[in-house]
Amino acid sequence: MRPSNVALYLPVLLMCGFLAAGAANVLAAGDPPRLAPLPPVPEPSDNKTTKAKAELGRLLFFDPKITGDASLSCGDCHVPRQGWGLADPISRGYPGTVHWRNSQTVVNTAYLAKLFWQGDAGSLEAQAEAANTGAVAGNGSNDVMEARLRQTPEYIKRFREAFGTERPLINDAWYAIAAFERAELIQKDNPLDRYLTGDKNALSAKAVKGKQLFEGKANCIQCHNGPMLTDEKYYNLGVPRPKEFEETGLNQVTYRWEIYQKGLHEQRYRQWKDDPGLYHTTAWVRDAGKHRTAPLRYIKYTAPYMHAGQFFTLEEVIDFYDKGGGENEFTKRYGNKTRILKPLNLTKDEKEALIAFLEELSGEEIKMAVPKVPSYAVKPDVPGLTQAQAKRIGLERHLPAIGKK
Ligand code: HEC
Ligand code: HEC
Repeated sequence: MRPSNVALYLPVLLMCGFLAAGAANVLAAGDPPRLAPLPPVPEPSDNKTTKAKAELGRLLFFDPKITGDASLSCGDCHVPRQGWGLADPISRGYPGTVHWRNSQTVVNTAYLAKLFWQGDAGSLEAQAEAANTGAVAGNGSNDVMEARLRQTPEYIKRFREAFGTERPLINDAWYAIAAFERAELIQKDNPLDRYLTGDKNALSAKAVKGKQLFEGKANCIQCHNGPMLTDEKYYNLGVPRPKEFEETGLNQVTYRWEIYQKGLHEQRYRQWKDDPGLYHTTAWVRDAGKHRTAPLRYIKYTAPYMHAGQFFTLEEVIDFYDKGGGENEFTKRYGNKTRILKPLNLTKDEKEALIAFLEELSGEEIKMAVPKVPSYAVKPDVPGLTQAQAKRIGLERHLPAIGKK
């Protein structure tokens, strides 16, 4: 083709390439689902990420002012050095309680459409409010938390910069935290992304073998697929009941309270002793014990594993799948264990390769120092303010009304 012809045909050539690339992403029926690199972070139209919001959100994430007794923050259950989750099998709870599930990592959650093990929160904004008002987590009341923010000059200033409001609104706190998660708690360009976009050296040979097993013999891909390595569907794998539910009084209190307040029928309330998961959303017994397929991108840093931290290491997780999963109260009672799991007969080398793949795709740790959070101040009576004082506490916009001094 002469150069002039190339120019002539370029649009057509580009179009063909575009169509071919498009077609490659469409799966023929029967093909296994695929892994995919992370796309740009999705943002809801009513909460565009800005620097002011994300910076404010970072402070709020670590600030106990927005929980009930002001002693606990998001960052106490999502500890940066514990994979932005918690290394306890079952999470700590609001003082005087324990939680009933494992604290998940917050890293990359901006990509998930269904949050929590039960998949019952639909956005980071809704999730943040649920966390800090929920009885066994933040246990805060919105008006008290809002009053605390309004008594903090630094927040008055920052909420105004981020949201243009005269005073902090508690709802905007959840928006700022979500913006922080979208801006800072994303793991861009990790080894899996680089591998999938053409850098064949981004994963070691062992991890590449692990990837082939993941997509082949071990069949993890059936549920752990797409950019977040989850189909966001629900399965009962037969993960065993956490022993804490039987052995520890405080855990029983939470378990009983959770299933009661979520509205379990009396007969089942008396019968069941395990986490009903998706059942709480659908009220179908066939959904009892089903949980959302867990995303796997930051997995190396987030032990222990499963909804109540039933397994401490990735070795234990792989052994569980190698046996074809397990049994729990619901699989026995309702026969609802997923049929996708089968014994895998993995060799020792194959298990190691799978673990190498999971560890390498976890990429670099996201490290962050816990910031110093702003303090309360006593606000002087507004009428007596000088311009300088008003500016310091962020009230200068009131001055026209009260007369300048
Ligand atoms: C008392 C401990 C505790 C506190 C405080 C807490 N969380 Fe959590 N977080 C958890 C636990 C436990 C889960 C899993 C809950 C479930 O599935 O029912 C979770 C789940 C999440 C998830 C869902 C992750 C996923 O994969 O779906 C996100 C996001 C999250 N928390 C963010 C936050 C934010 C933001 C705050 C503060 C506004 C916060 N959490 C406060 C313990 C806590
Ligand atoms: C049938 C769907 C399905 C298949 C197949 C599957 N998983 Fe899972 N995976 C899930 C679900 C659902 C969970 C959460 C289960 C729970 O906590 O009850 C999970 C949890 C995990 C976890 C724990 C995540 C965490 O944050 O605690 C790891 C690790 C994991 N799977 C790895 C694998 C590997 C490796 C394979 C292949 C050997 C595999 N899975 C096959 C559905 C599946």
